[in-house]
Amino acid sequence: MKKITVSIGGSVLVPTLESNNIAAYASVLKNLARRYEVFVVCGGGGEARRYITAARDLGVDEAAADELGIIVTRLNASLLIAALGAAACPGVAEGYGRALEYAGCGRIVVMGGVVPAQTTDAVSAVLAERTGADLLVNATSVDGIYSADPRKDAQAVRHDRLTPAELLEIIVGSRLDAGSNTIIDIVAGKVVERSGIPLLVIDGKDPEHLEKAITTGEFTGTIVSESSEFTLPL
Ligand code: UTP
Repeated sequence: MKKITVSIGGSVLVPTLESNNIAAYASVLKNLARRYEVFVVCGGGGEARRYITAARDLGVDEAAADELGIIVTRLNASLLIAALGAAACPGVAEGYGRALEYAGCGRIVVMGGVVPAQTTDAVSAVLAERTGADLLVNATSVDGIYSADPRKDAQAVRHDRLTPAELLEIIVGSRLDAGSNTIIDIVAGKVVERSGIPLLVIDGKDPEHLEKAITTGEFTGTIVSESSEFTLPL
């Protein structure tokens, strides 16, 4: 069975707690788990940012604020596990070792964050590397990787394909703009480069995009791969 690692941004998984996409994602992930070995990493989204801001206002250091963000990613992961029921391993894998232990159980493995000073993009890239994934998918709030932030720059164009080196150039370039938020964090970019695992970045606001992309190859987004030969469906 081929292996996929899916990073689901907190902003698309739980846009708000009251109207969340947990059940819809659980349904899509169960469908995918019939054909692939599935590993999922949940982001923290707006709730994580609210806790981080509140912690900063109390004067804590950045790493302590990150720890709160990690707790929220694990809360979102716990909600997803609740929705997946028997299709998921019973607990949030708090590290890669536990995710590898769970991997043999024939169920979907779910993680949140692991250590300060990174985001769940990095967690998913490392998890993909540790598990020997055939594909890493980042389901996020933007439909691919753009030449500039499409929310701020009307001239920004979406890249259909990039090499990992080109991705890193974009990440580093956009970090130079004060306050900018890149779509993929730099640790994730570096791990994608060294592991050679293809990365697909798609708009995750509609969970069906994920299933369609992987099973039919129809998607709007960006493929990052060293080889121009790599195509979907998987
Ligand atoms: P996210 O990965 O969710 O970041 O982690 P994000 O930028 O909010 O992404 P979206 O919106 O969900 O897609 C939330 C926060 O948790 C901390 C960081 O502070 C991060 O910004 N975190 C997460 C860590 O410190 N380490 C981790 O391994 C994961």
